[in-house]
Amino acid sequence: MMKEEAIRQAAEIIRKGGIVAFPTETVYGLGADAFNSMAVARIFEVKQRPTFDPLIVHVARKRDVEKFVREIPAQAIKLMERFWPGPLTVVLNKREEVLEMVTAGLPTVAVRMPNHPVALELIQVSGCPIAAPSANPFGYVSPTTAEHVRDQLGDQVDFILEGGPCEVGLESTIVSFAGERPVLLRPGGVPLEEIESVIGTVEVHVNLEKISAPGMLPKHYAPRTPILIKWLEKEKAEIFRGKKIGLLAFQKPTDRFPFVHVEILSQKGDLREAASNLFSAIRRLDALGLDLILAESVPEIGLGRAIMDRLRRASHTLPQ
Ligand code: TXA
Ligand code: MG
Repeated sequence: MMKEEAIRQAAEIIRKGGIVAFPTETVYGLGADAFNSMAVARIFEVKQRPTFDPLIVHVARKRDVEKFVREIPAQAIKLMERFWPGPLTVVLNKREEVLEMVTAGLPTVAVRMPNHPVALELIQVSGCPIAAPSANPFGYVSPTTAEHVRDQLGDQVDFILEGGPCEVGLESTIVSFAGERPVLLRPGGVPLEEIESVIGTVEVHVNLEKISAPGMLPKHYAPRTPILIKWLEKEKAEIFRGKKIGLLAFQKPTDRFPFVHVEILSQKGDLREAASNLFSAIRRLDALGLDLILAESVPEIGLGRAIMDRLRRASHTLPQ
């Protein structure tokens, strides 16, 4: 099917209240007309997502945000000017009309303009804003290819739009403007340093022990296989002997443990490349039936912050 024809069909499905998986530059989303409560309800059902976890509304033009929010603070406008279209979500005080189902009853709504031609065209042709979470079962790693979506949700969605592998590979950065000062709720595709270079210091409310964004549950983005981030040489010799273990390495691993499989995120140690490979690499490791995945830490600068956030959440409930 031609791309244009696929987008047209997908848009038709959205208009009729269906749900469509579509590519963005961050991860694949599972979208519905943001003003159709039945369609939005189906997203929660298919993802098995708790209804207290609100969705992001995706727009194709900056000015469409005015349809959902009461006002846009100057600092939010600055961020939108600088990073939209792109991997930035802003949380703003919502208008009455925005569905409660979308915002999980919160007085705020999360909005984003994605930087992907297929996503933008889908929103435009559908003629409505698209509410969409990542297109994965709740709690699992987000999909960065259409194949990932097909594997897990293929028979439950009405259409999957192809758009190749996602360039960023990590979900958007979420900055809330609900209060007096901006707050970072989720590190993501736009590094904190870049946000702060535009609006100055931002408070960081990313806490693994506490829920900051409703959906930022401590255990999230997790494969079935347990992940361990830090390990001691001693443990490796004793506890891990005879176990099937995979390694998620940042650069070339120096380790000589007999890993069943090694995934290297970026040979040259580039955090951008590492981010774009992260979720695919975790999925490949998860498909091997391993006893454990050992993950190396990456430097916590730039996108490394978001990578470590996802790794920590993926590894959070490891048995001691
Ligand atoms: O890159 C992305 O953001 C991708 C693509 C598809 O756009 N979407 C995505 O959606 O990651 P989802 O639903 O997997 O994550 C959205 C996060 C959740 O943690 C949710 O709790 C938070 O955004 N969120 C949504 N609305 C919010 C609000 N009003 N206040 C605070 N957090 C909110
Ligand atoms: Mg998600």
